[in-house]
Amino acid sequence: MSQTARTLIFVKPDGVRRGLVGEIIQRFERRGIRIVGLKMVRPTRELAEKHYAVHRDKPFFESVVNFITSGPVVAMVLECPNAIEITRQMMGATNPANAAPGTIRGDFGLDIEQNIIHGSSDPEAAAYELNLWFTPEELVG
Ligand code: PPS
Repeated sequence: MSQTARTLIFVKPDGVRRGLVGEIIQRFERRGIRIVGLKMVRPTRELAEKHYAVHRDKPFFESVVNFITSGPVVAMVLECPNAIEITRQMMGATNPANAAPGTIRGDFGLDIEQNIIHGSSDPEAAAYELNLWFTPEELVG
């Protein structure tokens, strides 16, 4: 029996601007994934820099921080067995050019930066990001 896990997902500013929030949440709900936290926020520069801290030395760091702070995002904590693997399958490859049709990025994206959605990459990242984006009081039991 696989273990229930949690992952941090957010619909990026391009996904919100394009009105894809309902479509994306519906996909997760229809898969049977439980939403245990949900909110719309305009990320501060501090939050964005902490979120992408692991990429601090990458050439795209400044650009991705500017993009994520350019408008509201819809952040959520999703829970199900193998939550990280399942949601990453559903999102598709980071670069939408390589994402399979039927995935979120494969159906709606074209651009490596404006790739619609973020999802935690592994359990350590999920623990860090959950704590960064949500307080325990914001999550249902
Ligand atoms: S890496 O270098 O493999 O560790 O990075 P990767 O996992 O592919 O991407 C990490 C996040 O950075 C975004 N990204 C970019 N933004 C702007 N420009 C460029 N060139 C670029 N490359 C990667 C990418 O969308 C990832 O964002 P998240 O939110 O993690 O999906």
